[in-house]
Amino acid sequence: MGNRFDLADYPAYARWREARIAAHPTSVADLVVEVDDIAALNQAEHAALLDRIRRANMAAYAERRPQPGRDDKAALTALGARFGLVSLDRNALADDDGVTPLSVHRDGTRARYIPYTERPIAWHTDGYYNHPPRRVRGLTLHCARPAAEGGVNRLMDAEMLYILLRDEDPGHIAALMRDDAMTIPGNDEEGLQRADTVGPVFWIDGGGALAMRYTARARNVMWSPDPAVQAAAAAIRRLLDGPSPFLFAARLEAGMGLLSNNVLHTREPFRDDPAAPRLLYRARYHDRIAGS
Ligand SMILES: [Fe+2]
Repeated sequence: MGNRFDLADYPAYARWREARIAAHPTSVADLVVEVDDIAALNQAEHAALLDRIRRANMAAYAERRPQPGRDDKAALTALGARFGLVSLDRNALADDDGVTPLSVHRDGTRARYIPYTERPIAWHTDGYYNHPPRRVRGLTLHCARPAAEGGVNRLMDAEMLYILLRDEDPGHIAALMRDDAMTIPGNDEEGLQRADTVGPVFWIDGGGALAMRYTARARNVMWSPDPAVQAAAAAIRRLLDGPSPFLFAARLEAGMGLLSNNVLHTREPFRDDPAAPRLLYRARYHDRIAGS
């Protein structure tokens, strides 16, 4: 059967590539599944979400009948648990339950970090600065209240980016899998002190899945000076700029959310209404989604 991620095994790659492209959703609408209540999914809803995740490493949901007055954070962790997401990655700004409420903070500690502002967030995977034991493989978001305007997320499955890069030049993949490809300088991220993190952009996880860590924020990353790594990093920036049929843009409205294997994403700028502030809940996991 071969190994699709082995650069020396083109036939295995070509078979996987063809199947992957054929299965990939062609519009953002194809990613969205209507569900009654994420805290109590039925079998059909679970199967429909898992189908999207298998094809694109992500699915979005839109709730029709959430239980009135329910705790959104508890509902989000219940949803994660249905998909095998149990090992929460806690950061200093998460609440005790490990779920981080994201809203605009105009002063205080959180105001220093972009997620808590109205500013755009460039392409990244969550937790790209984490050391290997705390690598973030699963990511869920739930929108309790959207911004007054804007706040769209652009989304891309890392496997599709891998395909675009490998088709352009397999040398990009070899460069991005180098152990010294990308260094994230030590810093404090959302309140947690951390040493430099050196590692690959792409690697194959224990279960055989492709994994990725990435940030487009130039001040947060030091790329290897190797010309092949530099060329590969430039190719990523260009490909994420699009256009591509594999790039999606979605705005999460109230009761909508994202369930993903930590896909690449942005957050576009938004305008907040302090009388009805934007509120999203975010949960990061060390697990991948079970069965995907
Ligand atoms: Fe993020």
